[in-house]
Amino acid sequence: MRLDIITVIPDFFQGPVTTSILKRASDKGLATIVVHDLRDFGLGNYKQVDDKIYGGSAGMVLMIEPILNCIESLKAQRTYDEVIYLTPDGETFNQRMANSLSLKQNLILLCGHYKGIDHRIREHVITREISIGDYVLTGGELGAAIIADAVIRLIPGVISDETSALTDSFQDGLLSAPIYTRPADYNGWTVPEVLTSGNFAEIEKWNEEQALERTQQLRPDLLDDSTLD
Ligand code: ADE
Repeated sequence: MRLDIITVIPDFFQGPVTTSILKRASDKGLATIVVHDLRDFGLGNYKQVDDKIYGGSAGMVLMIEPILNCIESLKAQRTYDEVIYLTPDGETFNQRMANSLSLKQNLILLCGHYKGIDHRIREHVITREISIGDYVLTGGELGAAIIADAVIRLIPGVISDETSALTDSFQDGLLSAPIYTRPADYNGWTVPEVLTSGNFAEIEKWNEEQALERTQQLRPDLLDDSTLD
């Protein structure tokens, strides 16, 4: 998979891309993440990327041309499955979306900044708009990093224990069962007995029951959320 991230603050991605799961995926050749500085496509000597809002509202908007020039230069090199714009008024990101994006080859993630981007880019160029939650951030960068992480960890081989991505919370629409490691008894805080029994059928049954119980208690909304299949 290849992810092209377009931003006015490329340094923001120093951490996520050079450490963490994203680094591991790129070291293994399973994912390529390329961060593009929108300013490289800015206009004139000052490399202008933003301008005042028509109609007099306060704030600045990212202009059409730098964005379009950047996206067109990428599209000239390969075909993209989606051109995604990160925005609080997009579709709320969830595990189902992460799963489906993890099957794609090439994605562009466009981060808005200031007041956002000229709406004509959204009308004519963007194929999908995603929000990471009902709150307003300074820009789309945190959202792009979250999507990159959630999507790339699902690519087979990125996480060493292949089953672990499949047994995550949300992956089957349920929260995970509680997990434990040694010691089995820490000053009287004990691990549920079944987990140390060696009876794998019983353990699996316990995990399933716990997953359902925790979901009923903590996130009952997930049980009738048909978006998590
Ligand atoms: N940009 C600003 N706020 C955002 C949000 N909640 N999700 C995605 N991108 C954003």
